[in-house]
Amino acid sequence: GFIYQLKGLSNLEDKLKELLNLKNIFVVPGNFDKDEYILSDIGKEASKHILNVIKDNNILGITGGTTMAKVAEEMPKSNSIKDILVLPARGGIGKSLETQSNNIAANIAYKLDGKYKLLHIPDNIGKEALDTLMQFDEIKSLIDSIKKIDVLVFGIGRSDTMAERRNLSKDIIDILEKEGAVSEAFGYYFNINGEIIRESNTVGLNLEDFKSIRNVIGIAAGAQKAEAIIAIAALRNDITLLIDEGAAKEILNKI
Ligand code: G3H
Repeated sequence: GFIYQLKGLSNLEDKLKELLNLKNIFVVPGNFDKDEYILSDIGKEASKHILNVIKDNNILGITGGTTMAKVAEEMPKSNSIKDILVLPARGGIGKSLETQSNNIAANIAYKLDGKYKLLHIPDNIGKEALDTLMQFDEIKSLIDSIKKIDVLVFGIGRSDTMAERRNLSKDIIDILEKEGAVSEAFGYYFNINGEIIRESNTVGLNLEDFKSIRNVIGIAAGAQKAEAIIAIAALRNDITLLIDEGAAKEILNKI
């Protein structure tokens, strides 16, 4: 029954904590690859974690993607925490409005009765255009705020899926594969050891910033993302991982 299932999941969590050398891993029942509704459960669970760690006047950083979009959707309306500022951690990506980090930031800010700021810079913009944009005060001040993020919640993606979504050229996709990229998060492509293979040409949070944020919560669903998650687990041992059972079991197979 239900109790047995919960116990099974906590065993799974304990095994993963040991293998990945992480203190905080939470596993949601089910496999997203077989049941797309699991993403809503991840969204609900992530919302709970955010509400647990966020404090008055905090800056909440978020990223884009379908998983993060579910967090915004499942976040309950709450005004218990005062003066939250929600920011996209990096520049935009892709064409779909629902999965844009700007849109997700605005939706979460609405749910938490907070404020948001938008980052009007597309991903993979040319270096010169980026330098020009960086001269605007509005963008400069937003970048400063990004450096002060207290809580970051980010989606973990597969390198190949994200390279395609970001319309990278065939040449670059081949290089990523050849160099062993398996994971993508906040604009970086990592190999399974969490080493950087490539960084998207955009502004905002960098890996150093990431390492100094008080609270970071990485979320992912689906067995297909196992290696992508292993890579992110290598970045910090005090990261909170929130994944589904499908991903959790596949990680055990891969290690
Ligand atoms: O960078 C990783 C992506 O945000 C993951 O995207 O949630 O749509 O799989 P996804």
